[in-house]
Amino acid sequence: MSRIQVVVDYDAIQRNVEVLREHAPTAQVMAIVKADAYGHGLVPAAAAARAGGASWLGVAQPSEALQLRAAGDHGRIFTWLYGPEVPALDLIAHDVDVSVSTSAQLAPIAAAAREAGKVARVHVCIDTGLGREGVRPEALPALLEALAAQADAVAVVGAWSHFALADAPGHETIDRQAGVFREALAVIEGHGIALEVRHLANSAATLTRPDLHFDVVRPGIAVYGLAPVDDPAGDDFGLTPAMRVLSSVGQVKDVPAGTGVSYGHEYTTSEDTRLALVTAGYADGVFRAGGNSAEVAIGGSRFRISGRVCMDQFVVDVGPGFEVAAGDTVTLIGPGGPSAREWANAVGTIDYEIVCRFGGLRHKDAAQDATTEETA
Ligand SMILES: Cc1ncc(COP(=O)(O)O)c(C=O)c1O
Repeated sequence: MSRIQVVVDYDAIQRNVEVLREHAPTAQVMAIVKADAYGHGLVPAAAAARAGGASWLGVAQPSEALQLRAAGDHGRIFTWLYGPEVPALDLIAHDVDVSVSTSAQLAPIAAAAREAGKVARVHVCIDTGLGREGVRPEALPALLEALAAQADAVAVVGAWSHFALADAPGHETIDRQAGVFREALAVIEGHGIALEVRHLANSAATLTRPDLHFDVVRPGIAVYGLAPVDDPAGDDFGLTPAMRVLSSVGQVKDVPAGTGVSYGHEYTTSEDTRLALVTAGYADGVFRAGGNSAEVAIGGSRFRISGRVCMDQFVVDVGPGFEVAAGDTVTLIGPGGPSAREWANAVGTIDYEIVCRFGGLRHKDAAQDATTEETA
């Protein structure tokens, strides 16, 4: 019996990238497809993003960059997160653009470039205030000297940074970080480096700060149709969610008022009613915190999950006489049902984690019936 189905609409991903290009007409789009394209499937999501006009793809992990090359992607790819174990030779041999934050990171890249007989394309990462990866501005001149010393093997083609609070439009850190970024760009140019690309904007900044698009924008969550901030126009910026999460009803039964439901009896029926048992639980990725809080849709109506989510099932009180039968579809996320944002609010997280979690089920061998399919 089907437990969870994750259905990805790759046409929606293509359209979302087209929409993002309209929001950033003067910049190139780097579609962020890290973490298996936020659970949507790295290779097909990347292909859809390319079809929508993404001239760059961005992945945190080098292995994902190499996976994209192996799948036949020949466009610009950027990867930024690694330690000393970076597969530098493979990355350089496959013409992947790489990030550098420290001179320790530079060493294997320069050595690999020499071995490959190529010049590595490097983007300097500046920590403008996120407090995560990147060189702190005061250490930038020394890093630029180190890069200059390896000029036969590395070419600095890019500079980039990442926002801490772009999803809080108007937050003072946004302009502060942009200011630090501009100062860093001036330092880089002062070292005689002509940058090909400068990039700073994630989805939120792409949609709300056109003045900060620079040469390339790096949207992630918006590629998958999820708005990172509220759209003042109430239209989610024209984005379409790409992921649907479905399950099915395994059993239906009528019970009297006062029936305790699921472990701990944290839900008790208030009237004679009908219960639908849904055949997916936390072992299938359904957040346990969704008990008595998250909603699902069955037969065109929305219901809150009744009582605790168990390992492989949960129960929904659909009300007396509601027309429902074993085998009926249950929409956890999708049109007619809750959004990923609603699930996130119900379980105390962000929609990023919701789609990554459910999307991860696409690879769960145990759930042999977890499927991905294209919808036209
Ligand atoms: C470096 C970098 N750029 C861009 C993004 C895309 O961010 P978002 O999904 O908020 O658009 C991420 C994701 O966290 C990131 O780590």
